Amino acid sequence: MIKSVKNRFSLTHGFIACVAIAGFATSAAAQNSTVMTGNANDLRPLYADAGDIAEGKRLADSSCAGCHGANGISASPGVPNLAGQRPAYVYLELRAYQSGVRGDSAMNNAVKFLNDDALVKVAAYFSSLEPAQPRPASGSAAVVPKPDALQAGKSAAAVCTGCHGESGITKTPGMPNLVGLDPKYFVAAINDYKNGQRKNELMKSMAVAISDANAKNMALYFALQKPAPAKTPAPGDAATGKAAADACAGCHGEQGVSGTPTTPSLAGQDAEYTAAALRAYKDGTRNNETMKGLATPLDDAAIKNLAAYYATQQPQAPKVRKPLTTQEWTERCERCHGLNGNSTSPRLPALAGQRTDYLIKVLHAYRTGARKSPEMAAMSGDLTENDIDNLAAYFAGQRARSVLYVVTPGK
Ligand code: HEC
Ligand code: HEC
Ligand code: HEC
Ligand code: HEC
Repeated sequence: MIKSVKNRFSLTHGFIACVAIAGFATSAAAQNSTVMTGNANDLRPLYADAGDIAEGKRLADSSCAGCHGANGISASPGVPNLAGQRPAYVYLELRAYQSGVRGDSAMNNAVKFLNDDALVKVAAYFSSLEPAQPRPASGSAAVVPKPDALQAGKSAAAVCTGCHGESGITKTPGMPNLVGLDPKYFVAAINDYKNGQRKNELMKSMAVAISDANAKNMALYFALQKPAPAKTPAPGDAATGKAAADACAGCHGEQGVSGTPTTPSLAGQDAEYTAAALRAYKDGTRNNETMKGLATPLDDAAIKNLAAYYATQQPQAPKVRKPLTTQEWTERCERCHGLNGNSTSPRLPALAGQRTDYLIKVLHAYRTGARKSPEMAAMSGDLTENDIDNLAAYFAGQRARSVLYVVTPGK
């Protein structure tokens, strides 16, 4: 039974108020694409009558049920549930498959020979069905959310604190601070240890065990810790070092805070490490032409003074945005997709109760651009694999509600 309330008013002069059963407000979404704004034509499935829906069912039973299930509840991996999906959305997607804007060979073939009227009716039929409800998790264990980037970085960094200090603030002379390092420089350093470009046996043995994803996660974790200078002695003469540091300011910043991601900040760095690095550039054990040229003229006293100057400067947190937690992401999604993924717009898809594997698949498709939507490209660009898994599990696990659309006359 379709939930649309039939009306006597012409579509162009009316507007649709959505009354979710959950009783929640309409989306505050940016209105800048076909799906978001649409036109009255897209709303035709809302006005289908019992006869139209019966025709839609006949078509669905013969042409769609094999994949989408007898009641629009799919039992096939990668094939979405359609039962209770929002009517104008279903119709728009069918048109997108028909025009090839949305590519999927199964669906492109399934709609190839259907006329527009058939698309309206089959959309009306599927949206009139009771939505699928989340399946109880197999076994008794609840779904455990995967760690987000920051949590993953923190746990991976646990093995580093013995040498690099709690939160990357070193207490051991010769061990560098890791706070205040830009993530780009951090990741490059790990890779340089891994591939032997930078020679240090201790760090090589650590680096080979770090996955690319975890290097990024740890870089992010350290970049977001509150920076503080190394808790180690700085024996040189900082005032003399300050004068010599004029030659370095162009790249490493006035007070040792670099403005370039690939050039390390030196502020607050352990003095013994900075001195060792300069000696290594000088004798060629650390390979960098620019730094070799700059370090070669420095004698050991000059090196100590420069190291003391930088060690006493205040490190700054690199400009890195804190990534959103799964909870913060879902709040964003719900601005368009409705509370708990129960969309209150006939044009925006409900996510509640949808198959997890399908949600994961399409979020990847948006992220790579294989499926096109300006809103979803913007939303999916920053999602990590774990974010996608968590969001899919969250929305798939929400109780799905059908929506009552009330057509009201224009003023
Ligand atoms: C051979 C299997 C197959 C058949 C038959 C089929 N579908 Fe699909 N359908 C799929 C798959 C797979 C997808 C997901 C494709 C993608 O990721 O874009 C899909 C996606 C859809 C979507 C998009 C849903 C969403 O949430 O975005 C709609 C709508 C749809 N199908 C409707 C239909 C209708 C109506 C019919 C019958 C006329 C039909 N399908 C027949 C396999 C099939
Ligand atoms: C056993 C001690 C030890 C452990 C454990 C250790 N490191 Fe190091 N790390 C060092 C030393 C020593 C250096 C300086 C090596 C050099 O001179 O190139 C260093 C250098 C680095 C640098 C380069 C800093 C810069 O300013 O260029 C990074 C990045 C780094 N370590 C990350 C890590 C991470 C991430 C972990 C944990 C997975 C870790 N380290 C674990 C001893 C350690
Ligand atoms: C032209 C730009 C430039 C100038 C000028 C410059 N540096 Fe560097 N410096 C770099 C770059 C780039 C790196 C990273 C090289 C690498 O990956 O080994 C670096 C690395 C370093 C490091 C290693 C830091 C770490 O965390 O491992 C130290 C120490 C350093 N520079 C000190 C100095 C001092 C002292 C001066 C002035 C005498 C100076 N630099 C001048 C570009 C510069
Ligand atoms: C600004 C509004 C907006 C926001 C915010 C938004 N979406 Fe969407 N979403 C859309 C639109 C519009 C579509 C339909 C696009 C299309 O036609 O492919 C869509 C489609 C989807 C689909 C495909 C549904 C299906 O049945 O195929 C998924 C999954 C999805 N969004 C998940 C999310 C998640 C997860 C978030 C939060 C991280 C999110 N969306 C945030 C507007 C939004």
